[in-house]
Amino acid sequence: MNKAVRNAVIAGNWKMNKTRPEAKALIEELKPLVKDADCGVVICVPYTNLETALELTKGSNIKVGAENCHWAKSGAFTGEISADMLAEMGVEYVVIGHSERRQYFGETDVTVNKRVRAALDAGLKVILCVGELLEQREQGITEEICAMQTKVALLGVSEDELKNIIIAYEPVWAIGTGKTATADQANEVNGYIRSVVAKLYGEKAAEALTIQYGGSMNAGNAEELLSKEHVDGGLIGGASLKAPDFATIVAAASK
Ligand code: PGA
Repeated sequence: MNKAVRNAVIAGNWKMNKTRPEAKALIEELKPLVKDADCGVVICVPYTNLETALELTKGSNIKVGAENCHWAKSGAFTGEISADMLAEMGVEYVVIGHSERRQYFGETDVTVNKRVRAALDAGLKVILCVGELLEQREQGITEEICAMQTKVALLGVSEDELKNIIIAYEPVWAIGTGKTATADQANEVNGYIRSVVAKLYGEKAAEALTIQYGGSMNAGNAEELLSKEHVDGGLIGGASLKAPDFATIVAAASK
């Protein structure tokens, strides 16, 4: 397994933060700070900020993502946004299966799979989130949970389509809590997820897959996490809302 063959990607997950003027200010501040990045840089923003983000990042190295999409192409799904709607705007990435969607909005492994399929069919790149709850870690079933979430989410996804998928391992107990997994814990589960993907798609495909870590990754701990063999970038919540912090993480991934 050779880390150097993989693209490191640092993606911000803004969650439900930033009005349009606030988004504009953050992106303007971020652009010069990450312009020399030697890794992928993505900002996943609320739907209301997508147009602003696309406009402001034109000609820059920052790619734009959404935070969710529905599985149907169109129809009577009040309040939802389809993958085609995102793709038509020029959005490149979409986060799917975030633990907050699973926790608060009834997202299941099956609906995650449907959304992944829809996103790939629309030509979007997917940041697929998996990760265990604290009690699951304490029960010693972290691997089973991550394997199950990964396998169900990837049902019907071909080896070729896997190139458009990034997996983000996000232990739920580490999200927004300031409690980061240790670099070794992150590396261990990322490596395990890679072995699950290897069983499904073969070693070569698994070796090429970008697997991020997410959960309280910040300017202070990013370098150590990102130095690990299986940690190919990060999905960054809180720290993505501050341009200098996000830029420090991008710089750490560029080394
Ligand atoms: P956090 O969020 O960095 O604020 O812990 C990460 C995420 O939920 O993607």
